[in-house]
Amino acid sequence: MPIVTTKEMFRKAYEGGYAIGAFNVNNMEIVQGITEAAAEVKAPVILQVSKGARAYANHTYLTKLVEAAEMETGLPIALHLDHGDSFELCKGCIDGGFTSVMIDASSKSFEDNIALTRQVVEYAHARGVVVEAELGTLAGVEDEVNVSAEDSSYTRPEDVEEFVTRTGCDSLAIAIGTSHGAYKFKPGTKPQLRFDILDEVARRLPGFPIVLHGASSVPQDFVDAINAHGGKMPGAIGVPEEMLREAARRAVCKINIDSDLRLAMTATIRQYFDEHPTDFDPRAYLKPARAAIKAMVRHKIVDVLGCDGKA
Ligand code: G3H
Ligand code: 13P
Ligand code: ZN
Repeated sequence: MPIVTTKEMFRKAYEGGYAIGAFNVNNMEIVQGITEAAAEVKAPVILQVSKGARAYANHTYLTKLVEAAEMETGLPIALHLDHGDSFELCKGCIDGGFTSVMIDASSKSFEDNIALTRQVVEYAHARGVVVEAELGTLAGVEDEVNVSAEDSSYTRPEDVEEFVTRTGCDSLAIAIGTSHGAYKFKPGTKPQLRFDILDEVARRLPGFPIVLHGASSVPQDFVDAINAHGGKMPGAIGVPEEMLREAARRAVCKINIDSDLRLAMTATIRQYFDEHPTDFDPRAYLKPARAAIKAMVRHKIVDVLGCDGKA
């Protein structure tokens, strides 16, 4: 099966009450860890590349790694640009074989967000590529969602119909209290997501796929392992997995996870060097790091997203 768009994946996910995992990729071991897990449990998967990943690893290397993963697994795999911030970047990915792009103009005014998203949609759709857009801004990494992330940063449900109609986007990322990184909620506070906003958006856009960014759950055992082996991570708190499961049952069809992969990889490598201080073969420490990513992705697919067996 060639690299696919997310259209069919999202249609089935919406109807089936589950979500597709969108995992960020930066190198071969990450691509392998994710796709080996997805293949074992027969899950469709989205591999997403940020602007930073593309600058780090090179567009061609990343697309070829994803093509190799598709050839090895035969899975439905979508190759997606994460947080594209300009028409030129989206165009480069569309021209270069991506099947899906995100144009993130959420920090711009409503009208400017519509104009840029529309421009990307026109270019993408003419070439068979789908577009994710964003409305509302995710809470900042240091924000405590209950208090400091005011309603203005959440998506306003009353805007979504006009936005989707005027842009023609294929999926919409909304802000309901998640944020990027490992420090999503203040230690001692109760993580909360605005499911009321999600449901109101879904009511206004029946059947339309919603995307949740900033969805790492930041497992404490990874943080503890990092700190037990020389790290100094302060109180890191992610989105509880039962909330992600709940979002997947509702209108959320794509759940973005990056930080949890970073934590799994870093915890494993730190532990490896503590236990093998004289080793210096990159294969020796990247192998368990890849295995840790694989175990984490398998857990997300089976226990959180519910997309196992859906490939
Ligand atoms: O949402 C951002 C992703 O975690 C990608 O992060 O820009 O550091 O590659 P990055
Ligand atoms: P996390 O930092 O919570 O993993 O979010 C990743 C993300 O949203 C990528 O777009
Ligand atoms: Zn994101």
